[in-house]
Amino acid sequence: MAVPDSEVQRAAALRAELLRHAHAYYVLDAPTVPDAEYDRLFEALQALERDFPELRTPDSPTQRIGGAPLPELAEVQHAVPMLSIYTETDKSAQGALAFDARVRRGLGLDDTDPAVRYSAELKFDGLAISLRYEHGVLVRAATRGDGQTGEDVTHTVRTIGQIPLRLQGDAPEVLEVRGEIYMRRDDFERLNASQRERGEKTFVNPRNTAAGAIRQLDPAITRRRPLSFFAYGLGQTAGWTEPATHSGLLDALAGFGFPVCEHRCVAEGPAGLIDFHARIEAQRDALPYDIDGVVYKVDDRSLQRELGFVSREPRWAVAHKYPAQEEMTRLLDIEIQVGRTGALTPVARLAPVFVGGVTVTNATLHNEDEIRRKDVRIGDQVIVRRAGDVIPEIVGPVLAHRDGSEREFVMPTTCPVCGSHAVRGEDEAVARCSGGLFCAAQRTQAIIHFASRKALDIEGLGDKLIEQLVEQGLVKTAADLFSLSVDTLAALERMAQKSAANVVAAIDKSRNTTLQRFIYALGIRNVGESTARDLARHFGGLDALLGADVAALEAVPDVGPIVAKCIVEFFAEPHNRDVIAALRAAGICWEEHEPAQAASGPLAGKTLVITGTLPSLSRDEARALVEAAGGKVAGSVSKKTDYLVAGEAAGSKLAKAESLGVPVLDEAALHALLAGGDTNLLTESST
Ligand code: IVH
Repeated sequence: MAVPDSEVQRAAALRAELLRHAHAYYVLDAPTVPDAEYDRLFEALQALERDFPELRTPDSPTQRIGGAPLPELAEVQHAVPMLSIYTETDKSAQGALAFDARVRRGLGLDDTDPAVRYSAELKFDGLAISLRYEHGVLVRAATRGDGQTGEDVTHTVRTIGQIPLRLQGDAPEVLEVRGEIYMRRDDFERLNASQRERGEKTFVNPRNTAAGAIRQLDPAITRRRPLSFFAYGLGQTAGWTEPATHSGLLDALAGFGFPVCEHRCVAEGPAGLIDFHARIEAQRDALPYDIDGVVYKVDDRSLQRELGFVSREPRWAVAHKYPAQEEMTRLLDIEIQVGRTGALTPVARLAPVFVGGVTVTNATLHNEDEIRRKDVRIGDQVIVRRAGDVIPEIVGPVLAHRDGSEREFVMPTTCPVCGSHAVRGEDEAVARCSGGLFCAAQRTQAIIHFASRKALDIEGLGDKLIEQLVEQGLVKTAADLFSLSVDTLAALERMAQKSAANVVAAIDKSRNTTLQRFIYALGIRNVGESTARDLARHFGGLDALLGADVAALEAVPDVGPIVAKCIVEFFAEPHNRDVIAALRAAGICWEEHEPAQAASGPLAGKTLVITGTLPSLSRDEARALVEAAGGKVAGSVSKKTDYLVAGEAAGSKLAKAESLGVPVLDEAALHALLAGGDTNLLTESST
């Protein structure tokens, strides 16, 4: 059948557009469309070429795997090509069923044959890498490139602490390990926060940042980026009996010292795959890194060989995708939100867009400078990112869609809520409303914080209700909550007698609290949950805290001069003292205890930091054990840290500890330390 002209033209247009985006992405490191959009175009072209194979040209983007190599990095020929995997985008169980059906057909199995066993794992969103070890020593690291020829990135990959420079145990003559270099979300957020603080451009997303960090000529740049690694496959080997199953291979790689993701299983038939797909989807937001789907692989490697390849995709593996975490939509407007401490935050109002599994209509833009640096304008088509439970963010504008009608955003000089002057401190990134508690927005936010889960935890007293109470002048401070009557609440919009009674009961119940919750609820700037806990422990009672000066406060673990100053200033403000007195008069109470004594126990006087996932203890459990042994747990690694306790997927804290020479413990070593015995340090002498 002749190919219709319209389809010839459509293929050419798709191809040109894909090449343009790929060039911007790989070579210029400046993506022009969200990945999801690229994928859609790619799949459209793939489908077209499947229907009309005559349209498949050798230069089609579907015929290559990665991007063009950077001109400056040396080329590496892959001994075993690095392949891509066929992707199922079906949201339902269909993806797993279709894959299993293809595998069974390929193996000539019929209904009477038993279920095929699969290795199910995560599809990490990073940069594929091939690591070559000869006689146990890392000799070459290469990117995928076009699958045949990659780039030599040995010099930058060497800076990644999680990649062994030398294999553990009995090393084969040659072992090529394939896996993904990625950046954890918390590491990415921290990196961007520090970029913002220094007034520098922020990074687009963890994947891009990881890829950019690897494809550098200067390893010093890579070293400053917190990167992580997971091994998931094999290239060339020599002098080694390769494991018979893929799951066995992953175990063997872990044995050589590679990080292998714990979220994996051997699944029986499609039902096992469907179950894995659903289980991981439910956990996706809670994972510390981005994934864009799951991967299913036939577990028996002899069956993999039997199935072989179609073009450049193995018939024995498939990726099953989840909704994209970046999408494009229109920025309708930028509004100013006033926070509890008066910070004026520009918030993007967006045309509703489905991203990361939810519909998003708002996203943060952080501050004025960030809007300038990203050159985001009202009316722009923007890329929105929502990953994990992080607040959705604007990645940047899609310049190609500008038509000149867009407007630049101007930061107001007064508070949009109370009209007070907005002031911006010299070293500050944000402007703040100077209205203090005169400002209804700040009052509202202060009370929302007071009632929130980690503070007094007043059930049923939601944001909307508090807004109404403040707007109508029924509540001016948190103390006023305690004199609200059922009738007053019931008279409000959308409040029935029953729910009003429930709220009053919840307010009443919240009177019995803890000193820690009370301190946190006050909403002192820079006093989060853990500082509130430290303060409560250290001072034992509220009066001791109210009377503390900067020096006394700095004696508390993790309290530095800035936090101490915020606390002293807060309590020096007569209005705040009045509110505290009113709260006490309203009957809020907690148990007071003796101030913390100098601790005793095997960890007395020691400060530890806990990071990553420990094999059996949760972080809270580990903290409790350390504290029971007289030690303190701090939030960040510094020269004052005595030990870092590091679990699976430890990121920047581990790198920092290593650079400061802070001893690193695994869980077993922590137990030894708690028992007062010797520590078996994890710190490798090779790094
Ligand atoms: S296996 C022959 N396993 O997905 C199969 N790939 O298109 C080769 N990826 O860029 C790949 N997680 O970097 C495999 N658990 C996983 C993966 C994974 C992410 C990436 C890989 C490549 C792409 C495959």
